[in-house]
Formats: sequence, structure tokens, C-alpha cells
Amino acid sequence: MKQNNIETVYSGIGGYEKIEGIVETFYGYVKENPILIPLFPDDLTETMHKQTLFLTQFFGGPRLYEAERGHPMLRRRHLPFPITPSARDEWLACMKLALIENQVEEPYYTEMIERMTLTANHMMNTPES
Ligand code: HEM
Repeated sequence: MKQNNIETVYSGIGGYEKIEGIVETFYGYVKENPILIPLFPDDLTETMHKQTLFLTQFFGGPRLYEAERGHPMLRRRHLPFPITPSARDEWLACMKLALIENQVEEPYYTEMIERMTLTANHMMNTPES
């Protein structure tokens, strides 16, 4: 998909199926992560669905998240969960592995990690205990 004639990250990496693959691999790592997993519900089905919609929209694809869940307000939606600097680091580490495992190549890898790092920094709401 092109917007304003500029290729989006979403289309560049391979669209919806690629996002689905990344999300599946990512939550596989989250499940194994002792810092992250206590924050998440036992059943990750809905979480994975929401994240697939969000990342599609975030990287320039159709605005699926907004259509289903309204304005993202991500910081507000994360406030119920204590997100420490180490939770931020672990989240990003899982995402890096997921991108690599799904063969996301440059320049998309760097672009995606940079944008998600900014968002992850914004999600921190609790000092390290
Ligand atoms: C910094 C570390 C982060 C932690 C520990 C974290 C943790 C969580 C948790 C526990 C939930 C609730 C799960 C659920 O409602 O099913 C959640 C939801 C969500 N997270 Fe994160 N998150 C982090 C960063 C991010 C980042 C960087 C993004 C986007 C790039 C993101 C996007 C989302 C989305 C879209 C939802 C679903 C919101 C909703 O519609 O309810 N998160 N996250």
C-alpha cells in the first residue's frame, strides 16, 4: 500500500501477514520472559489481536486499531501495569528477536525498532524496584 506515493514500512515488510508473524513470535518470547509475563493475562489471544491491529496502523497500514478500539491512548492503556525500565528493555529485546526471526531487513528493521523504542520509553510509568 502506498500513502502519498511513499512506500510504508507496512507494505515494505510484506503487509498484514508479516505483522501477524512478528506478533506471534513476539508473544512467544514474552511468554518465556520472567519480567514480562506476570504483567500479561494468561490467555494472550486478545492481546495478540490488539497488537496486530495496532502495529498494522502504526507502520502505515489500514487504520484497523482505531476502527475497532478507538484512539490508541497507549500510555493511558498501560497505566494499570507497572512498566519499569527493565520491562521496557525486555519488551524491546523480545521485539528485536521477533523482527530478526521474521526476516525483517534494513531499512525496515531500524525504522521499526526506533519507532517502537520511542513508544516503549513513553510507556514507562514505574521506577525500578
Ligand atoms: C515498554 C514495555 C511494554 C510493556 C511491559 C507492555 C505491556 C502491555 C500489557 C501488560 C498490555 C495489556 C495486555 C492486554 O490488554 O491484553 C499491553 C497492551 C498493549 N500494548 Fe503494550 N507494553 C509495552 C510497550 C508497548 C509498545 C512499545 C507498544 C506499541 C508499539 C505497545 C502496544 C500495546 C497495545 C496496542 C496494547 C493493547 C491496548 C488495548 O487496546 O487495550 N506496548 N501492553
